[in-house]
Amino acid sequence: MRSLVALGLFVAPVFAVVGEWGQCGGINYTGDTVCDTGLVCTVLNPYYYQCLKGTATTTTTTTAPTTTATASLQALAKAKGKHFGSATDNPEFTDTPYTSLLFSSMFGAITPGNSMKWGPTNPSNGTYTYTNGDDVLNRAVAAGQIVRGHNLVWYNQLPSYVSALTDNATLQAVMTAHITNEVTHYKGKLYAWDVVNEPFSDSGGMRSWLYQTYVGTGYIAAAFKAARAADATTPLWLNEYNLEYAGSKYTTALSTVTDLVNQGVPINGVGFQGHLIVGSVPSQATIVGALNAFTALGLDVAFTELDIRMTLPATAALLAQQKADYKTIVNACLAVTRCLGITVWDYTDKYSWIPGVFSGQGAALPWDENLLPKPAYDGIVEALKA
Ligand SMILES: *[C@@H]1O[C@H](CO)[C@@H](O)[C@H](O)[C@H]1NC(C)=O
Ligand SMILES: *[C@@H]1O[C@H](CO)[C@@H](O)[C@H](O)[C@H]1NC(C)=O
Ligand SMILES: *[C@@H]1O[C@H](CO)[C@@H](O)[C@H](O)[C@H]1NC(C)=O
Repeated sequence: MRSLVALGLFVAPVFAVVGEWGQCGGINYTGDTVCDTGLVCTVLNPYYYQCLKGTATTTTTTTAPTTTATASLQALAKAKGKHFGSATDNPEFTDTPYTSLLFSSMFGAITPGNSMKWGPTNPSNGTYTYTNGDDVLNRAVAAGQIVRGHNLVWYNQLPSYVSALTDNATLQAVMTAHITNEVTHYKGKLYAWDVVNEPFSDSGGMRSWLYQTYVGTGYIAAAFKAARAADATTPLWLNEYNLEYAGSKYTTALSTVTDLVNQGVPINGVGFQGHLIVGSVPSQATIVGALNAFTALGLDVAFTELDIRMTLPATAALLAQQKADYKTIVNACLAVTRCLGITVWDYTDKYSWIPGVFSGQGAALPWDENLLPKPAYDGIVEALKA
């Protein structure tokens, strides 16, 4: 046997290691997958993983898709009178496999995650920068997609020149100037504007922040009026999370929005963000009830930032529950005529905000970090087809 081994006629299984820069994975790759000491198999794109120095930030065990993502979510949603969209952000545009799917017939609507917000567009008094927002808009329009403006007034990502203010009249003046400038810039180009984002406290009542403190609740009506004055037709929305539950936040939101409608404030819709947790999604009946409370005011509704997170690692059982949870949301929207559509807060776990904000949680989206569809994708397809 010795001699045979030496001659190579008997070869025991050998797991060769891959050296630096070598391929270690990817769709249809059948070679070695273990990198040499000190190297990490890093996902560059779904087709090519490479052994690189350093610590991987994106390596997770991926679950093989149960189908390939061939069905267009937008086409299926459109057949039901809805749209299906994704959020995105400009730094992701260097990722060609990602943009190939984002700006494809898979999705019908795009929301810029950051680039139309107050801080990024109006960093100092009188200075306006729309380059990144325009880039999102132009790519989406070229792909035949509609774009949601997000957002004009929010407690977060404010320009520092605004955060430093405390004078009521000056705060009102800078808000009106910013809204007038940005809404005019995008006039007639967006399917909706999120005018005021997250104005309510998680425990009920109004969120305590700069404008609530120094201007008062009237800032909300003033923002909608300024937006309408700059653009007579684009639908104007209020956008909030945790409205899916009939809790104190929902109660405050409903009474505040009812007041706005009764005062003749130009508001057209309420966005249900839909940042939810696997296994804790309310029943379809509860969600439909919450949506209908706002449509009864003559408003449109939509799921505007949907993601359903889990405690990592993703297991088959969690992915199956997530599939059921996505179906619940899609079915709730389908059950409400004035639910205009569903937008996921980016489509892939690769670019989800969840792990950076909720430690130990993630895997919240219908595509995994390798841009492969998860059971959640199948669930959306099943619900839209039913
Ligand atoms: C992977 O291999 C299968 C079977 O040969 C083939 O049908 C498929 O197109 C390949 N996928 C890619 C992305 O090349
Ligand atoms: C912004 O600039 C205008 C004129 O350029 C000035 O009147 C106003 O006071 C400034 N506001 C702030 C908050 O700096
Ligand atoms: C801010 O000014 C408006 C009038 O422009 C007034 O109605 C409101 O009460 C003031 N807010 C505060 C907190 O004083």
